[in-house]
Amino acid sequence: MGILLKTVVILLFTLSSSFADISTFIKNDCATCHSFKEVKSDFTERIKRKASPLYYAGNKYKEEWLVLWLQNPTRIRPGGSFPPNHTIVTDEGDIIDDKTLDKHVSLSLPQAKEVASYLMGLKTKQELIDKIDYSPKKISKSSGKLNFVKFQACQSCHKDSRDEGGVSGPELYTAWNRLQEKYIVSYITEPELWDDHTMMPNKNLKKSRIQKLVDYLKLLGEENEK
Ligand code: HEC
Ligand code: HEC
Repeated sequence: MGILLKTVVILLFTLSSSFADISTFIKNDCATCHSFKEVKSDFTERIKRKASPLYYAGNKYKEEWLVLWLQNPTRIRPGGSFPPNHTIVTDEGDIIDDKTLDKHVSLSLPQAKEVASYLMGLKTKQELIDKIDYSPKKISKSSGKLNFVKFQACQSCHKDSRDEGGVSGPELYTAWNRLQEKYIVSYITEPELWDDHTMMPNKNLKKSRIQKLVDYLKLLGEENEK
């Protein structure tokens, strides 16, 4: 066999065997909690769901964030995947029972890079991304916050800083660093098209309102990076 042919054979073998590995790894180590295809069923699916779906991960996350987070996962959803399952009722109101929330598996740098690159290839729901057109505008912190907290009441479910906001939705002061901007716009516009059983209400907000909300999340994300 010529040296070139040998190299090609070895290369093909390595590529395909590493791909086989990653799918098996994902199937055994991630798909036990995260779904990798759309599940059509009734709301009991949402109650039992252990973690967010990942079959559209390539249209949702920023790859650099995935690589970092998978090595050092921090909590994004203060109340876990389905907050009522982790809530205890007390005289002072409902509180999250941290003991019922498990630590997330963490990966080495090479594993995190390979998994992130695999996830970025999962591009279901591309059509929702394709119809978004958003270009950032400047917003002041006070006007952004007023809109987020008072006018749209997003803060009842989401945190816009480490110490302020609701615990039933994912924290949003890190959203800009974690999520692709078109996904953020699309999710606020039509959450139910991303997830049949989303717990996020569609408030039929005007485009100009959504623009302000996303500009505010951008501002928070950029502050958070400093
Ligand atoms: C035992 C269940 C379980 C397994 C196994 C698991 N995860 Fe998770 N994952 C979770 C939960 C619960 C969360 C939400 C954590 C949070 O926000 O605090 C999560 C969050 C995530 C997130 C961020 C999701 C978001 O809210 O945007 C990513 C990305 C992720 N997991 C990827 C993976 C990958 C890749 C694997 C396989 C290596 C994996 N997970 C294995 C339960 C699991
Ligand atoms: C009633 C609670 C509630 C309100 C009010 C709410 N959300 Fe959400 N939101 C959620 C939940 C819960 C999710 C995650 C989807 C799920 O787990 O079903 C979510 C998801 C999101 C996401 C995607 C985040 C991710 O990690 O995938 C964005 C962006 C978002 N919300 C922005 C907003 C904005 C902006 C507002 C105000 C207009 C708002 N939300 C109001 C509960 C809420």
